[in-house]
Amino acid sequence: MDFFADTAEINEIAELKDLGLLDGVTTNPSLIMKSGRQVFQVLEDICSITDGPVSAEVVALNAQTMVKEGKRLAEIASNIVIKIPLTLEGLKACRILTEEEYRVNVTLCFSANQALLAAKAGATFVSPFLGRLDDIGLDGIELIEEIRIIFDNYDFETQILAASVRSPLHVKDVAIAGSDAVTAHPSVYKKLAEHPLTDTGLESFLNDWKSTGMKIV
Ligand code: G3P
Repeated sequence: MDFFADTAEINEIAELKDLGLLDGVTTNPSLIMKSGRQVFQVLEDICSITDGPVSAEVVALNAQTMVKEGKRLAEIASNIVIKIPLTLEGLKACRILTEEEYRVNVTLCFSANQALLAAKAGATFVSPFLGRLDDIGLDGIELIEEIRIIFDNYDFETQILAASVRSPLHVKDVAIAGSDAVTAHPSVYKKLAEHPLTDTGLESFLNDWKSTGMKIV
C-alpha cells in the first residue's frame, strides 16, 4: 500500500522521504492556504523532492474551466496528478483529461456509487474521505471495502486512495480492506512504529547489555 503525505509543508514531506516512506503527496486548497505560500511555488517545491504522484486540485466548478486549470497545474511537473471534485462537472472534466492521458484524482468521494462513477470516468485515483464520514457517525472503512469489491468485480484500474485518514487504526483498517494507497499527515505514519512494549523491551535489553561491560564497535 502506497503512503502519500497529505500536506503542503516541504519540511514534513522531506522528513517522510528521509524515512523511506514517501510514495507521493496530496494537496488541496485548504492545505495550500495553510502553507501561506503561492500555489505554483509550493507545488514546484513539492514536485522537486517527490518522485511519486503529487495531487494538485482545481478550484473551478464547471468542466471547461476545470480542464483549463488542470492543464495549467500539470505544466508544473510530470508527476502532477490533477485533483478534481466528485461532481457531475468534475466527472466530465475527468473524462476529457484522461482521454488526453492526464492522470486524475477524483476527490471528495463519500459513497460507493460516487467511486463507481469516478472509475467509469477513467480516474487514476479516487479519494474516499474516511475521517469525515466517521465525523458524522458513518463507517468510513465499510466504504473502502465496498469500493474494493466493486472495482475488483469489474477490473477497474482506478486506484483507491484512502483520504481523510487520521490515525494508525485507520491505516491498519484500510490496509486490511485492500486500499491501494493511503494519504495522511506524516505524523500518522510515524505513529505506526510506536509500541510501548518495544520501548520497555529495548530499555531492558540495553540495561542488561550495559551490565556486561562489552562493546560491539
Ligand atoms: O486528503 C483529504 C484530507 O486532506 C482531508 O482530511 O482530516 O480534513 O478530513 P480531513
